[in-house]
Amino acid sequence: MMLVGGLSSLLFVSLVSASPAQKGCKILFDGRIPLQTTPADFTKSTSLYNTKSVLGQNQTWAEVIKEPLVALPSLVRSGLIFRGLAKPFEVTITDQSIFVPGSGPPQGGFRRSELIPMSNNGTDPTVAGTTTVHFSIQTDPFKPLNYSHEYHPIWHERNDYNGNHFNLQTGTPFSAAKESIPIRNPKTLRITGWSIPTPEQNVFITDFNDLTWHNFALTIGWSTNKTTVYYSKGYEPLKKVAGPFSNDNSNGGQFHFGFLKLPTGPDGIDVAHTGYQERIKGAEGLIYGGIFIEDSSDGCITLS
Ligand SMILES: *[C@@H]1O[C@H](CO)[C@@H](O)[C@H](O)[C@H]1NC(C)=O
Ligand SMILES: *[C@@H]1O[C@H](CO)[C@@H](O)[C@H](O)[C@H]1NC(C)=O
Ligand SMILES: *[C@@H]1O[C@H](CO)[C@@H](O)[C@H](O)[C@H]1NC(C)=O
Ligand SMILES: *[C@@H]1O[C@H](CO)[C@@H](O)[C@H](O)[C@H]1NC(C)=O
Repeated sequence: MMLVGGLSSLLFVSLVSASPAQKGCKILFDGRIPLQTTPADFTKSTSLYNTKSVLGQNQTWAEVIKEPLVALPSLVRSGLIFRGLAKPFEVTITDQSIFVPGSGPPQGGFRRSELIPMSNNGTDPTVAGTTTVHFSIQTDPFKPLNYSHEYHPIWHERNDYNGNHFNLQTGTPFSAAKESIPIRNPKTLRITGWSIPTPEQNVFITDFNDLTWHNFALTIGWSTNKTTVYYSKGYEPLKKVAGPFSNDNSNGGQFHFGFLKLPTGPDGIDVAHTGYQERIKGAEGLIYGGIFIEDSSDGCITLS
């Protein structure tokens, strides 16, 4: 279902808000932004997300975050009714999206714009016990990605930066040898496990169709080293699609909601600092909604 324009989405919103809020699991981080949020609000100390990283050295979130042209409400279960109304937002990259870490040179090989929950300091309750991270994502046909490149639209990075506990990936793998399966269609969404081993394990793959929400939940046992993946499209309830599989989930860390574009180039190069990036015409964007993290230590998982 696609709702174009303000009137129809407002109507949709009011119908949804009339239904009773479900009694849910304990929410540890609610990243669903209220309807009145503007891109400039992402630069303020009241933002739900870190205002400083991760984005281009000379960019602000006010420039990087866009209101999606087509107002598509994210999943009702996760996007609209919990703690009042929420709406999706768009994250973009341009040629300016070159991050300069606190120590070290500019990451000229990458283009990056990623939101990190303000409360997610690497050792907080979102990375303890067993938690489930929820997110919905869709393409913006007006700001398409270049699927000749590899992208990471969401991941969880270890606190010691020694790899990611999981990645959501799309595009052409930078290195085919890194993947446990051949990627024949670059325009797919792929969940991979811990990123350090080669190959990393591709545990789920699905077509990245336009004009629909792709909804994910990952239940991560931070000390059991087990991960389970749930997925649905549009407004369908989530279904288990992978796991629980064994994964090194140790060391805590941070969730990144937003995307990183790798360069192209030969295997083995320093992808953060070298490789090829075609000039971006305008901007590339992805639309996010329904971001929240819940406590699943007692087995509670929101599926619909
Ligand atoms: C940011 O702007 C400064 C001053 O113009 C420039 O020296 C620097 O290279 C820019 N950084 C990036 C990552 O483009
Ligand atoms: C991280 O946040 C937790 C509370 O969520 C707090 O107990 C801890 O001290 C914080 N750690 C750092 C390094 O700030
Ligand atoms: C999880 O993995 C870490 C790192 O390999 C290990 O230290 C820890 O003992 C593992 N935990 C379990 C329950 O297997
Ligand atoms: C996509 O990326 C490839 C590799 O960088 C480049 O050759 C191609 O021109 C790009 N396509 C567009 C439409 O920018």
